[in-house]
Amino acid sequence: MYRPPQRIKYKPDPGEPPTAAEAKAARLFSPISYQNLQLEQRTWVPAMVPWRASEDGFVTDDILDWYERMARGQPGALVVEATGIRDVPSGPLLRMGHDRYIPGLKDLADVVRHASSGRTRLLIQIIDFLSIRRRPSPEKYLQKFLGITPEHVRLLRAEGCTESEIRQKLAALSLEELREILTERELEGLTHGYRERVTDTQLEHIRNLPAVLPDLFAAAAGRAQQAGMDGVELHYAHAYTMASFLSALNQRDDGYGGSREERIRLPLEVYRRVRDVVGDSYTVGCRYLSEECIEGGSTVEDAVFFGVEFARAGMDFLSLSRGGKFEDAAQPKPGWSAYPYTGRSGYECMPSYISDQQGPFGRNFKPTTDIRSAIRQAGFEVPVVAAGGIHGFEQAEAVLCDGIADIVGAARQSLADPDWFLKLRLGRGDEVNVCEYTNSCEGLDQKHKQVTCKLWDRKCLDEAGVRLSRDGRRRLTAPAWDK
Ligand SMILES: Cc1cc2nc3c(=O)[nH]c(=O)nc-3n(C[C@H](O)[C@H](O)[C@H](O)COP(=O)(O)O)c2cc1C
Ligand code: SF4
Repeated sequence: MYRPPQRIKYKPDPGEPPTAAEAKAARLFSPISYQNLQLEQRTWVPAMVPWRASEDGFVTDDILDWYERMARGQPGALVVEATGIRDVPSGPLLRMGHDRYIPGLKDLADVVRHASSGRTRLLIQIIDFLSIRRRPSPEKYLQKFLGITPEHVRLLRAEGCTESEIRQKLAALSLEELREILTERELEGLTHGYRERVTDTQLEHIRNLPAVLPDLFAAAAGRAQQAGMDGVELHYAHAYTMASFLSALNQRDDGYGGSREERIRLPLEVYRRVRDVVGDSYTVGCRYLSEECIEGGSTVEDAVFFGVEFARAGMDFLSLSRGGKFEDAAQPKPGWSAYPYTGRSGYECMPSYISDQQGPFGRNFKPTTDIRSAIRQAGFEVPVVAAGGIHGFEQAEAVLCDGIADIVGAARQSLADPDWFLKLRLGRGDEVNVCEYTNSCEGLDQKHKQVTCKLWDRKCLDEAGVRLSRDGRRRLTAPAWDK
């Protein structure tokens, strides 16, 4: 996990909680209505993968429990974790690439509606991602995965050798020597594990992404609608396919890369196809990056352009995140895959309490303000969701009153205390369990372990009916709020 070199320690400071009367008058608890997005209050729980789906990507009882617990806190909107749009094996990540997933998603929508007494709008984040392999052992990589090319033969002066002899020569070289022989991508395959990019247009399935993705996203959105979800969030952020199309690093030469207009072309085509399928009155927005926070990556100026175009196209909301890229991810251990939240850009996405002068709270506020105000100047009123270190009422109210955003997103604070918005609304904010931003939850996510919060996962383990993690040591949902 990346830590800023300054290593300044911060303690969350939620400030003064409101009285019930102050909460009633607060902007945070006022409704918002724009096109197809109607929220009872401006509180939002962004997507978080809890690693609870079945191996086949189905909704499980543990998933139902997780969202039921979140919904009891009655946020204005709850976004279901990144859910795959393809019908391909992808481990215990939620999927919706086939109609057989609809009944489980319907149960999920029912559970949330019931637990929130109909006060929470349920959106689902829909995602496409490219293939990434685990980091192999050097022996395996050089014996099996590396394709031998004429350039390898030339550099090794191995003309006339058999392929097996060439592989033996490579295996005898040090990493420094291999650097002279392998291309940058081959070296990455050796040291980090092979990872596809949207620019690998020599591969047919990558070249064809613009032809297949609009229908895949649209079919998934249609299933969300059939399942009774209130809307979809197109995942155009972090390290995944659509964010990679928007990225300044996308230099595809087929009309889908290069200039901003070309980079946004596929995201707009996806949106329009989704709209064709779900109709004009269904909630559709996207999550995208205010900044990629990597060398040569997209900037706030890019994000302003994208935001205006998404608004012009008719999206119902824009949720802004930042960073979370593969390009600067730490080297994984052999046998593990690279994780896009381990580098500096990952830190920008989920900043922890060990930080720099700027601190971990509200690092995305300035870019979000700039993007929102440019969208307003262009004449669009689309609501903008801010997130990143929000854990207190005064801070949340300032987000809304200072023009940073229109809706307040809190991921880790809602994991630490799923009732926190409700406690604030009822004037009982002094009972909120405040997130410490130590990122233990993120560490579990990285290891693909069931995500829990260290503030509550060892509490009341003997409670009747409590479900435990696979290792039997942690509870899977926060204890009930003893009102
Ligand atoms: C365990 C975990 C899983 C996450 N999964 C997702 C995800 O599926 N999609 C997404 O857009 N962001 C995901 N995020 C990022 C959060 O939505 C959020 O942007 C980030 O944690 C910063 O907000 P916060 O400071 O309020 O936590 C995840 C974060 C955590 C801690
Ligand atoms: S484990 Fe809990 S306290 Fe720590 S960062 Fe995650 S949500 Fe916050």
